[in-house]
Amino acid sequence: MKVHAAVVRSFDRPPLYEPFELPDPAGDDQAEAEVLAIGLHPRVRSAAAGLHYTSTGELPMIPGVDGVARLPGGRIVYFVADDGLPGPMATHAVVDVRRSVPIPAGTDLPRIAAGMNPAMSSWVALRRRVPIAPGQSVLILGATGNAGQMAVQIARRLGAGRVVGAGRDRTRLARLPDLGADDIVALDDGPGALAEAAADVDLVLDYLWGKPAGDAILTLLRARADRSREMNWIQIGSVAGPTIQLPSVALRSANFRLQGNGQGAVSTRAYLEELPALIEEIDSGAIAVTARVEPLAEVESVWSAPESPGVRTVLIP
Ligand SMILES: NC(=O)c1ccc[n+]([C@@H]2O[C@H](COP(=O)([O-])OP(=O)(O)OC[C@H]3O[C@@H](n4cnc5c(N)ncnc54)[C@H](OP(=O)(O)O)[C@@H]3O)[C@@H](O)[C@H]2O)c1
Repeated sequence: MKVHAAVVRSFDRPPLYEPFELPDPAGDDQAEAEVLAIGLHPRVRSAAAGLHYTSTGELPMIPGVDGVARLPGGRIVYFVADDGLPGPMATHAVVDVRRSVPIPAGTDLPRIAAGMNPAMSSWVALRRRVPIAPGQSVLILGATGNAGQMAVQIARRLGAGRVVGAGRDRTRLARLPDLGADDIVALDDGPGALAEAAADVDLVLDYLWGKPAGDAILTLLRARADRSREMNWIQIGSVAGPTIQLPSVALRSANFRLQGNGQGAVSTRAYLEELPALIEEIDSGAIAVTARVEPLAEVESVWSAPESPGVRTVLIP
């Protein structure tokens, strides 16, 4: 089928809106769906730049990791794209129906397309990777972006006793108490401020990695009143850098458990099982999501336009 799609022909240029030949669905588990909304997430950008760890280097490619679509027969679903199929940034996409969940009638579809990917990062981390126990304390490192802000709200929804948000942008940090943060820390206030707010935290959701995360690990471990108390560090994003330097003593001198959350760390099945509840949370307004809707046909200019912090661009075919 001939469709129109955002087509990446070079990893260093934005996609172009072009005709594209969509392959036929293979087998009963696949269907040709009409795409209704697609989120332009950081993960989508990194794959379109050939930089994501799942990238194969093959071009041309159609970007996108998830979206909202109408299946043949009319059912509207949220779906997670299959790495083996062209991405969903197109008027139509082949969807693996096993990787889709129905969306209730009346749901704001751009909110779902905008919110599921960033919200899933903390939801799945705290439900599947290291299930949170009621009353535990959570530090969100990098709490000012879409995923970080949602993590503050989700940690609260999932029973955290105390939530601390840390980041670099003071204006955006100042908004976090309204979303449920008990305390906020500006990272350039230095290690003392972080230690005071979060020394005895149980879980850390880390969206930064790089130097701020390496520094924060050592700061928190040194400041712990009881070093035998578990500190579960869940690595989720790396906006501050792809690597850290970590002295081995960090892993020996305290009950420090370092793990990641993402595609591969948690099974696809576990992700899918979490989706209906998360759709409900976003649909009910329990998690604040701000979507900026743009036409897919304008993808080339939208791709290069500056992003507003805390707002997720959603492309509509
Ligand atoms: N593993 C998963 O399941 C999963 C799922 C979703 C997202 N992620 C990852 O999580 C990260 C955040 O995603 P997102 O959707 O929240 O992106 P986003 O909305 O673009 O937010 C990123 C935020 O990071 C902050 N930032 C950038 N560099 C920083 C630095 N050096 N120090 C402190 N803060 C910095 C910026 O905040 P300020 O400009 O306000 O400082 C920006 O708002 C990305 O790496 C993404 O790929 C992972």
